[in-house]
Formats: sequence, structure tokens, C-alpha cells
Amino acid sequence: MKRLILDVDTGLDDAVALLLAAGLEELHIEAVIATAGNVGLEKTLENTLNIMETVGATCPVYKGADKPLLRESVEAGDFHGVTGMDGPTFAPRKRQQVQEESGIDALIRLLKENPHQLSVVSVGPLTDLALAMAKEEGIALLAKEIVIMGGSFSYGNVTKAAEFNTYADPEAAQIVFSSGANITLFSLDCTRTVTLDKKRLEAYRKKAGRATEVFAACMDTYMANYEKKGQGWPQMHDPLCIAYLADPTKVECEYAPVAVDIEEGPTYGQTVKLPSHEGEQIRIARSIDIPWFWSLVERALDHLD
Ligand code: BDR
Ligand code: CA
Repeated sequence: MKRLILDVDTGLDDAVALLLAAGLEELHIEAVIATAGNVGLEKTLENTLNIMETVGATCPVYKGADKPLLRESVEAGDFHGVTGMDGPTFAPRKRQQVQEESGIDALIRLLKENPHQLSVVSVGPLTDLALAMAKEEGIALLAKEIVIMGGSFSYGNVTKAAEFNTYADPEAAQIVFSSGANITLFSLDCTRTVTLDKKRLEAYRKKAGRATEVFAACMDTYMANYEKKGQGWPQMHDPLCIAYLADPTKVECEYAPVAVDIEEGPTYGQTVKLPSHEGEQIRIARSIDIPWFWSLVERALDHLD
């Protein structure tokens, strides 16, 4: 079983990533850190706690960074709604509450206590990881692997050049990508190939349980927002990182060092592949087995319901 630390800016597709991680028997969530990103930290934390309570998880939830390393905050409420997770409603929580320890300290502690044992998944801005690396040199090398949703090598989704997570904290992304850690990157070039259509959503909605109800309510909003923006069916960015951990053989990858543009200007936050001798190699996902991915979502929801 793979043991995970999840760093999320929950987020409608982050919510699906959490559901998937919680619902797959081959994965075990050790800790979740909420970071600022899609919306402010208080909201991403609230959303994270609500999802973890819904799935009956007992793992600790921590508070990560409330702003990027250097730049002004940017948010993505146009995709995720005012709360960051518009759609589902939740009863007051009985179990889940945020831990006292900061997410950055927890990340450092857990990696030191479990060297080369834990897979870290980051599906928001990379601020927490970069802060942990600044506080404890070499900490990223203690992760078994780091699986990241971020970047684009073609065109962006927040500017023409940049993807949201790298644009929201380009300096942090540059630090993490050049760390020499064992990184797998899901860029938009892969994640935008996996979309949820109405037929599939309606088929899922017929299932009875609470996890599916939350999933469907999140996806109703996500679908409506994509439609409003004229962007087709909603893209399943963050859950692909979890699917990869469940079975890496279902993902085709290439290797290259990746740099992030940290010069303010039209390409701020853009990711580029470098020639292989010019930096630390990163595993970059090129494609994923899409029918298999959906079968995984179905299995996870069945298990949680
Ligand atoms: C990424 O940006 C966020 O809005 C999503 O949650 C995802 O992590 C996609 O660019
Ligand atoms: Ca996200």
C-alpha cells in the first residue's frame, strides 16, 4: 500500500482527487495539508475538512501557506465558485478539525520520521513544499516521490503561457522542479485530455451514496463553469496524480528538466522543458489510460458509498 501526504488547494477537482485517494484500497492518506490557491486558505481548509469528514477519514489535516512566496495571490474562483467548492452542502463537522502544528512543519516531520517511505502529492501552488525545503535543506529528497499537477508545455489556462498552479507561485515551482527530488509532473498537456461528459456524470449520479452525491454536486458546478467560459467539458486535472500512484504503468511518461519563467511579463509562470544536461530530470506524464482512469473513479466511489 502506498502512503500519501496530500497538499491541496481544494478546489472542485482537488475534491475529486481527495475522494479518489480515500476510496482506493491500494492508497493510504497519512496527512492532508490545505494551501492557498484556487481560493484563500480559510476556504480551501474548510473544503478539505468537509471532504475528509464526508469520507470518514481519520488522518490529520494541517494548514499550509496562506500566500505565495513572493507574488500577489491569484485565485481561480471562476472555475471553482466563491467558496472554492460550490455545489455540495455539508452538515456541521463532528470529527475533523485542523491540527495545531503547521502544514510545513508536519511535512518536514513526517518525511524525516519516514525517510523514502511517503509519496507527496501536490495539486495546488507549490508554496508549502518550497517553504519546507527552505526550512530544512534536502527535505524533498526524503520523499519517496513527489507527484505534481502543474505547468503546461503548450498553452496555459490562466494566461496564454501559464497554467494556474505554476502561475500562482512560479518561484516555488522553480525551487521544487530544480530540487533533484523524484518528481512526476502532470501538466495540462496530459490533464486536459481527461474530461467528464454529461452522460458519464448522469450514470454516476444514479449511485446512491454520500460520496457520489458530493462528487456529482461538485461536478455539476465544475461543468456549468466550464460551459460558462466556453471551455467544453470539465478537465480532471488533480485526480490524475492519484490515479498515477494507484498504478504508474497506466501512464506514459518522458523525461526532461523543467524550468519555470520567474521574470515578470507575459510568460511569467510558464514551464519549459530544457535539454537533458541542463538540469534535474523530471518524469513528465504524456498520456494516461482514460477508460482505466474512469474505472478507478467508479471503484473509489463504490467503495466510499
Ligand atoms: C489546476 O488549477 C486549479 O484550478 C485546479 O485545481 C488544478 O490544480 C489546473 O490548472
Ligand atoms: Ca488544485
